[in-house]
Amino acid sequence: MDLGLSGKRVLVAAASKGLGRAIATEFVAEGARVAICSRERERIEQVARDIGAEVGIAADVSTDAGCRAFVQGAIASLGGIDVLIVNAGGPKPGTFGDLDDAAWQTAFELTLLSAVRLTRLALPELKKTKGSIVFSTSTSVRQPGSPAYGTLMLSNGLRAAVHGLLKTLATELAPDGIRVNAIPPGRISTERIAELDADTAKREGVAIEKIKERFEKSVIPLGRYGRPDEFAAAAVFLASPKASYITGVSLQVDGGMLTSMW
Ligand SMILES: NC(=O)c1ccc[n+]([C@@H]2O[C@H](COP(=O)([O-])OP(=O)(O)OC[C@H]3O[C@@H](n4cnc5c(N)ncnc54)[C@H](OP(=O)(O)O)[C@@H]3O)[C@@H](O)[C@H]2O)c1
Repeated sequence: MDLGLSGKRVLVAAASKGLGRAIATEFVAEGARVAICSRERERIEQVARDIGAEVGIAADVSTDAGCRAFVQGAIASLGGIDVLIVNAGGPKPGTFGDLDDAAWQTAFELTLLSAVRLTRLALPELKKTKGSIVFSTSTSVRQPGSPAYGTLMLSNGLRAAVHGLLKTLATELAPDGIRVNAIPPGRISTERIAELDADTAKREGVAIEKIKERFEKSVIPLGRYGRPDEFAAAAVFLASPKASYITGVSLQVDGGMLTSMW
């Protein structure tokens, strides 16, 4: 299927590795012109060369200056924006008792304010192109009380706000022809997931392999962690003109892990 992305100008935030990198790679494969960012200049420039992105920009999306550097740098290179992929590093794991105000403030800047700022900065260009926005979030927003998400207090608390933001934006921006959707990952094999498994293993005093085994045997109906390219396929479709009548949707990519109906 031709997704209609050839020549489209796409910004993928936080893309030196993991989900962001996989999404950027998939857009390049679809013929899009891609700008990516992450915090280390040398690394992101190398990744841009490796995957065929047009530009790699050093930017910390947890800051206003970083969001500006990414969006303005991408516009300067690409000449405009058709698609914005909102993504960032994950907030640190922890239970409520582990976290002080400083930890909440840091996570707020990283998880919620980055989404607000990137969207605000990209909007003037997206209005011109009737483009689309995809927020990479987490399945934990649907079932934050599940034991599977027990140590993700910051993610559970703040991503709920990200989903409130994107649902409201989907309505607010529809008259401008801009679509806004979310792709919550379940357990896609990346360094972040390996770190979370290591954290859980340490808390429980068991081997890290046991954590993965538990998810694969008892929590994920498809019986395995997902691959980043499987996640990226959903992002690319939702962002594309082929999804022209889809907005305000949250399409989880989780091997059946979420058990709720909606
Ligand atoms: N993988 C999953 O199954 C899963 C599940 C639920 C939620 N998530 C969420 O999805 C997001 C991406 O996860 P991932 O698995 O791809 O993580 P990852 O493998 O750790 O990759 C994170 C990426 O974000 C970049 N990054 C981190 N902080 C940044 C910042 N402040 N500004 C700009 N770039 C930044 C990192 O590059 P630098 O460090 O070089 O800046 C890296 O490229 C996270 O928020 C994670 O919590 C993932």
